[in-house]
Amino acid sequence: MDKIRIQGGVPLKGKVFLSGAKNAALPIMSAALLTDGWVNLSNLPALRDIQTEKRLLSFLGASLDEGSEGCLRINASRIDQFEAPYDLVKTMRASVLVLGPLLARFGRARVSLPGGCAIGARPINLHLKALEMMGARINLRSGYVDAKARRLRGTEIGFDTPTVTGTENLLMAAVLAQGKTSLGNAAKEPEVVDLANCLERMGAKISGAGTDTITVQGVTHLQPTDYRIMPDRIEAGTYLVASGITRGEITLAEYDGSHLETVIMKLKEAGLEFDQKKSGLTVRGPRKIKSVSVTTRPFPGFPTDMQAQFMALMALGQDTSVIKETIFENRYMHVSELRRLGADIQISGNQAVVKGVSKLRGAPVMATDLRASASLVLAGLAAEGMTEISRVYHLDRGYESLEKKLSALGANIERIKEVK
Ligand code: EPZ
Repeated sequence: MDKIRIQGGVPLKGKVFLSGAKNAALPIMSAALLTDGWVNLSNLPALRDIQTEKRLLSFLGASLDEGSEGCLRINASRIDQFEAPYDLVKTMRASVLVLGPLLARFGRARVSLPGGCAIGARPINLHLKALEMMGARINLRSGYVDAKARRLRGTEIGFDTPTVTGTENLLMAAVLAQGKTSLGNAAKEPEVVDLANCLERMGAKISGAGTDTITVQGVTHLQPTDYRIMPDRIEAGTYLVASGITRGEITLAEYDGSHLETVIMKLKEAGLEFDQKKSGLTVRGPRKIKSVSVTTRPFPGFPTDMQAQFMALMALGQDTSVIKETIFENRYMHVSELRRLGADIQISGNQAVVKGVSKLRGAPVMATDLRASASLVLAGLAAEGMTEISRVYHLDRGYESLEKKLSALGANIERIKEVK
């Protein structure tokens, strides 16, 4: 397995271009199953999860035509498989996003249950309950969800808790259902809105995306379209922290801070300075990082996908910050690794008390999940000496050319390829 080595202490400087958003690209690629004809997508990030999604769509019988960088054409005219197999789902939970489209368009789907992951149990009970309310017959057998429906019927659904992929799955189910569906307590994440925008371009009738009540008037069929994936706000947030933790000055090219307001507000409280220009958003790291407390919440609250990165910054704070994780029950796997770099962090329940230290020192550490590995890279960039991060395949799932982008900003970083 590849490793990443970082010689820390270099203030990062320069311009970085963001990639397309993984968590918008995955549902939008699945949405191509809702129509026949060529759906043309652009600004797709080059990530392992996108590769997995392509393999899943091909497995189902979709034709894929790779265009220039970041472009992909998908044609779901000849779908002949209706199963998302365990081998694919176990590597990427978001494979469950084919359930809604397959059921809505073909009346059947068999999807492996995703199982737990490093950050939590992550059940899909809310997806299944809502699909049953739309008339689907759902059986759980040998680790698979077996779903059938002649035609889904629109109805009033209220999610017990806002779920991002749950909202996306039901949105894709409702666009071809009979009648009107309303999704109450829906997720308001920008990626949900990006999916809704793409579906509307395909002819869907949707209102209220981005609010906690989305209404969908079902139609009989959808047309293919061209769609550009939104920029990745979590990648943007990660580079903002990279500038802060290295006391650097970075410009996120062509980016206006949208969808990251809460994170930017907290980073300003920590002392980072922001300058919005036409060319992009510039962020300067402070000489002294102020300790700031955060609680993760569904959008527009502080995103759980930025919790680990923010904790790395707070490890070098002047005082003590309290970080509360309210979305996932086990999203502190990075804490023991940050401690190896000299951080002072105490966990009790869903709360982490981070006592700032004057410096971190490089050490060998291990990545455990996507955002945890990003926090170790950030801490390594600030640490004195060498940090070596193993299991970086986690990073490749969600960050496009991270080492290349960071070394272009002056970081002393390299990937050590596994010798087979
Ligand atoms: C999406 O996961 C993102 N993944 C996650 O990003 C992100 O952390 C999460 O939303 C929260 O923002 C993608 O979009 C592919 P949820 P998702 O359903 O949809 C509980 C990353 O780092 N729940 O909104 O799986 C669940 O256990 C990844 O890029 C149920 O109980 O998250 C959690 O506690 C990690 N039953 C909460 O709701 C359900 O049926 C929110 O989960 C569904 C969810």
